[in-house]
Amino acid sequence: MLLTGASRGIGHATVKRFSAAGWRVITSSRHAFPEQCPWEMGPEDHIQVDLADTGSTLAAIDEMKRRLAEEGGVLDALVNNAGISPKGGSGGRLNTLDTPIEDWHRVFQVNFFASVMLARGLVEELSRASGSVVNVTSIAGSRVHPYAGAAYATSKAALAALTREMAADFGPLGVRVNAISPGEIDTSILSPGTARMAEAFPLRRLGTPDEVAKAIYFLCTEASSYVTGAELHINGGQHV
Ligand SMILES: NC(=O)c1ccc[n+]([C@@H]2O[C@H](COP(=O)([O-])OP(=O)(O)OC[C@H]3O[C@@H](n4cnc5c(N)ncnc54)[C@H](OP(=O)(O)O)[C@@H]3O)[C@@H](O)[C@H]2O)c1
Repeated sequence: MLLTGASRGIGHATVKRFSAAGWRVITSSRHAFPEQCPWEMGPEDHIQVDLADTGSTLAAIDEMKRRLAEEGGVLDALVNNAGISPKGGSGGRLNTLDTPIEDWHRVFQVNFFASVMLARGLVEELSRASGSVVNVTSIAGSRVHPYAGAAYATSKAALAALTREMAADFGPLGVRVNAISPGEIDTSILSPGTARMAEAFPLRRLGTPDEVAKAIYFLCTEASSYVTGAELHINGGQHV
């Protein structure tokens, strides 16, 4: 599988979940493979890419295709997990009036356009494997959130709509396309104060990255073989 944003948080837990099940995972993020990382697959399964930059993204797609070609040109899963959520001063919500337009473009490039570029670029490899795409959306895509900014929220709403459109277009090629929509998961993307929000959720706590990774695993494996175009909520009941 190919996973974007693998260096920490949900992505890191996802690498661990899939590699424990015997998958080869090609990871990607802006940083080079860290020397102190104990993961045995190492730098040969990591691709450095800045998804905010279209040139870097296209170069990474070429590099991924080259590496996949060495193993029959098949890709069982693409997980579009990398995401950014810029905040205002003291961690506050950047709204529609005060978000600089450059930030708006950057957020959409990473959270939305990079996902469609990667899926289109790797469609042949996915189709050969009857593979799966999982887009990581957010609860902020469907309601105004106290901390997530307007650019972030609209990029995730667009990614949810993209999941529906891609499910229609990729299905005839044998490729399933689904989304997972996390609520408040305990990672570095959260703002201070989020833990207090969780006290009102039905399950009364934040989620863990591993709980999201398990749902991604479900959507990439045989257990979900007739599921496509779905958005799975992983939020302890926050949406009810
Ligand atoms: N945590 C939550 O509560 C929550 C809730 C809803 C949705 N989500 C979504 O879940 C996904 C993962 O979130 P997280 O909480 O695990 O975030 P995180 O801890 O901030 O990790 C984000 C990952 O994306 C990578 N990344 C960021 N910008 C990039 C760029 N320009 N190019 C390539 N890689 C980039 C980062 O690696 P580098 O820094 O090395 O590039 C990192 O691996 C995101 O899409 C986020 O929107 C999270």
